[in-house]
Amino acid sequence: MKIIFLAFFFLLFFFFTTLPSTTAADFVYDEDGDEVFNGVTINYYIVPALRGRGGGLELGKKTKNETCSFYVVQSRNDTSPGLPALLRSPEFVPYLEEGMPFRIRFDEEIPPCVRQPAIWEVVDEFPTSWSVKVSAYENGEAFKLEKSEKYGPYAYKFVYCRPSDNVCGYLGIKNRRLVVRDENPFIVKFRKGHEIHFGGASIV
Ligand SMILES: *[C@@H]1O[C@H](CO)[C@@H](O)[C@H](O)[C@H]1NC(C)=O
Ligand SMILES: *[C@@H]1O[C@H](CO)[C@@H](O)[C@H](O)[C@H]1NC(C)=O
Repeated sequence: MKIIFLAFFFLLFFFFTTLPSTTAADFVYDEDGDEVFNGVTINYYIVPALRGRGGGLELGKKTKNETCSFYVVQSRNDTSPGLPALLRSPEFVPYLEEGMPFRIRFDEEIPPCVRQPAIWEVVDEFPTSWSVKVSAYENGEAFKLEKSEKYGPYAYKFVYCRPSDNVCGYLGIKNRRLVVRDENPFIVKFRKGHEIHFGGASIV
């Protein structure tokens, strides 16, 4: 009897703790229709939902004046998926949900001059634009995903919300760079990258 009661209590506990908070949020799905993991299980390539106008997101190539490039850019190579990234929300949930704030970092093939972790942040380069760059600084969860119906299922827009005043904007591409701009959001899909193991990554 005691065991049954305990099992029941455990089930009840499990049920309540796994229910999403009040509103039923939609999960974020990868291009295969599987839920996108929150954090450390698999990394994802971020590829354009619309094919043929460049590839996935990666780090820019350095220009003559720079010792290193920290800009997040869209690959010029249509067939390149870019660099795999980890998306992580502090919420204690296995999968990302639409509208859930998360941080994001590139996870592999990072040039030695870039300090790791290569976490995305938005820098205000007034008057040109707010560009997305990587830095090793833990700058909180400023990104969210919003579903886009434009190019079929499992396509999303990135929303950036500035932590200081919560002013938000979509991410788009301007001269290859990923920037905050409300016109023409960059519509992406998530492609499974590699399974993460302690001490290295291996191909799924
Ligand atoms: C490179 O640096 C020089 C000297 O600081 C500057 O005059 C020039 O405009 C820079 N070039 C580019 C492409 O940023
Ligand atoms: C474009 O990307 C594909 C896939 O990553 C790669 O095999 C190919 O070599 C790349 N092409 C160029 C010109 O870099």
